[in-house]
Amino acid sequence: MAKFLLIVGGGIAAYKAAELIRGARKAGHDVTPVLTAGGAHFVTPMSLAALAESPVYTSLWDLKDEAEMGHIQLSRAADLVLVCPATADLIAKMAAGIADDLATTLLLATDKPVIIAPAMNVRMWQHQATQTNIATLRARGITVIDPDEGPMACGEYGPGRLPEPDDILTFITQLPLVPSAVEGRLPVGDGPLSGRHILVTAGPTHEPIDPVRVIANRSSGKQGFAIAAAAAQAGARVTLIVGPVALPSPGGVARIDVETAQQMAEAVANSLPADVAILVAAVADWRVEASPTKLKKSAGPPALQFVANPDILATLGQSPDRPRLLIGFAAETDHVVANATAKRTAKNADWIVANDVSGDVMGGARNQVHLITAAGVEDWPEASKDDVARQLIARIIEELK
Ligand code: CTP
Repeated sequence: MAKFLLIVGGGIAAYKAAELIRGARKAGHDVTPVLTAGGAHFVTPMSLAALAESPVYTSLWDLKDEAEMGHIQLSRAADLVLVCPATADLIAKMAAGIADDLATTLLLATDKPVIIAPAMNVRMWQHQATQTNIATLRARGITVIDPDEGPMACGEYGPGRLPEPDDILTFITQLPLVPSAVEGRLPVGDGPLSGRHILVTAGPTHEPIDPVRVIANRSSGKQGFAIAAAAAQAGARVTLIVGPVALPSPGGVARIDVETAQQMAEAVANSLPADVAILVAAVADWRVEASPTKLKKSAGPPALQFVANPDILATLGQSPDRPRLLIGFAAETDHVVANATAKRTAKNADWIVANDVSGDVMGGARNQVHLITAAGVEDWPEASKDDVARQLIARIIEELK
């Protein structure tokens, strides 16, 4: 069982921190709450203390606390630091390294894994300042639990809601937090897919034409990332091999960045064996012989000579290391099911997830897919890419039973 240092920021979602404490205590974890001045407008120290059965720390200048437990010690006595809810202000201070109260001082002083659960108005969340700060925190190794999308307390709709406390707890307890302080304390990779290795490819590939130009496609990587995240949350060891995308890594996933189809094929081969491979990447079918120097406009339009790239899915389908469950995607604009069904046999895949990419699926947040198996075709209702991912992982869990 783990020791949480829980920093409660100021926001309407602060009441959910109380529920989170209740859930964490029930699961046997220790929780030491730290309440910011903003947080104290929404929940009282008394209620947090009662639920946590622990003193609640509020002020850096409380000399009694400093005498009993200095802020450095407090920041390191826990196994992990959870900021929930993390407000735009707290996130900005963390990104800038500001330490002007107890919570921000602890965050700067800690040597433990830090996880933040942002919650705020949708516009504040989507503001470039917040997104830049979030990217900074992720780059420093801080785990960010993405806010949920839905109607907000302020009347607007969109991402910014704090996920349900139970979901936050599940997420945290399934994180493979590397520092040794938590090893053996958290049930690392505990879930229906624990002990399984799942390989996911995602995003586009870029095939260079010359040092500055590439052949690319519109794949955003969102569906593949959602699948990798859902697999990790179900306890799998996940290798995510990804072409050039602008997405942060999901928590608990080993990510390998590549650029070209050939590099992706090589990374996949090097990552075997796997129990399951889910090839979501939109791999370029062709590449050109790249010019080592920039092609000059004055030389006129280049006559590009295309050569075929390796087909990663088809190669895996014939490999002696073929994963037990091999899943491909099929991006189609017409005869979606017929083409995808043909791809399943041609590439020796077990399942094909087919989608119609003639609309705004590529880059969008939602997807409508057909699952093609040896048994036939299932038409799944349109859903968010996260929901499609969870549904697919649920099917994989069933299949591996
Ligand atoms: N795929 C792959 N390697 C390639 C091309 C595709 O592994 N060089 C995989 C994709 O990741 C996906 C599946 O094969 O899982 C189908 O990809 P798709 O682009 O729909 O099909 P293609 O085989 O490229 O056929 P076409 O472009 O003619 O539809």
